Amino acid sequence: MTDYLTGFGNEFATEAVSGALPVGRNSPQRPAFGLYAEQFSGSAFTAPRGENRRSWFYRMRPSAMHPRFEPYSGNKRLETAPIGRGPFEPNRMRWDPFPLPEAPTDWVDGLVTWAGNGDAAALTGIGIHYYAANASMADRVFFDADGELLIVPQQGALRLVTEMGVLDVPPNHVAVIPRGLKFRVEIDGPARGYVCENYGAPFRLPDLGPIGANGLANPRDFETPVAAYEDIERKTEIVQKFGGALWTASLGHSPLDVVAWHGNNAPYRYDLARFNTIGSISFDHPDPSIFTVLTSPSETPGTANCDFVIFPPRWLVGEDTFRPPWFHRNIMSEFMGLIHGEYDAKTGGFAPGGASLHNCMNAHGPDKASTEAAMATDLKPQKIDGTMAFMFESRLPIRPTKAAMESPTLQGDYDRCWDGFEKAKLP
Ligand SMILES: [Fe+2]
Repeated sequence: MTDYLTGFGNEFATEAVSGALPVGRNSPQRPAFGLYAEQFSGSAFTAPRGENRRSWFYRMRPSAMHPRFEPYSGNKRLETAPIGRGPFEPNRMRWDPFPLPEAPTDWVDGLVTWAGNGDAAALTGIGIHYYAANASMADRVFFDADGELLIVPQQGALRLVTEMGVLDVPPNHVAVIPRGLKFRVEIDGPARGYVCENYGAPFRLPDLGPIGANGLANPRDFETPVAAYEDIERKTEIVQKFGGALWTASLGHSPLDVVAWHGNNAPYRYDLARFNTIGSISFDHPDPSIFTVLTSPSETPGTANCDFVIFPPRWLVGEDTFRPPWFHRNIMSEFMGLIHGEYDAKTGGFAPGGASLHNCMNAHGPDKASTEAAMATDLKPQKIDGTMAFMFESRLPIRPTKAAMESPTLQGDYDRCWDGFEKAKLP
């Protein structure tokens, strides 16, 4: 049983033991019960108030009490942008679902980098990873100094036991773990999904403009865990991702020992079924930006480092309208995944657990079968149901890794779904 505080980016305050949270100050001379105060910063100290993210932890031992980190060799498949060198191909790509592991594999060792852009050391761009695991992390925790983690389960529920509390994240939910927060992933069966490692500005809710004060992902539906701590005196490994590599150190206790905390730099989960989907009630359909759940802005206004966009169940009612996602060529680059069901722009080939990549300025859209069906159909109100696709959309071209390019799941014939369109007949 886990409890949650609600609201996006609130100044939360929570204590697992009554009296552990100081009142009226952050760093008393002697915090209650001999706890140690520690600030956890998610923005520069001097970031403007609206951008400022930080929390205060009251913990059983200081985080600083750890030995040297040494290189970790348990996962050779994790990569960090910049990925590769030299030219890379513009071709549209699609992958079959990523296989589940056969050997015992936990979440950290089950991460595989599929694509990325930007430069983690320049705090720009994203890493795109799959995870596939069949074991819980035992006596170890992970944290990522290179980025914030947006986790999108596709199969199997995750329990994220973090320094700041516990998040249960089944498929069709997402979770966001702030840069640097320690956590352990527990599962009770095979688990697979996607991760956007955001090197840039932390995700936030998009502005709504003329939509008004409500709609899309509503702030109250974001859930942050209440404080929960472990008092475990047992050897525990810390694996961290820093500077594009993994590092390990060993403690004699669990570092998930935060008894109370307050602040706005905190993990959260969101149920994608709560998304208030907005669309056209006349003709055409809006740009897919209308489906943005979270955005990581860049320094260029309106041009995201990464948008997290979903394609949820919705009614299509547009009159005299080609209703599938239209053909287009986009300056932004698009990596898509499918959580469940069928995506409305494709007839087969894009399976739950699979992925596609459509890079900057490369033409894509509905396949021939979907196009012909959409042009022939009688335009009655139609419900698209039982599906949830998503997209990581970025201003920077997205480069697939060697592992993605050499994977047997890469479909060799993806281009053919756009073969054979009939030529228009001019008068
Ligand atoms: Fe697109």
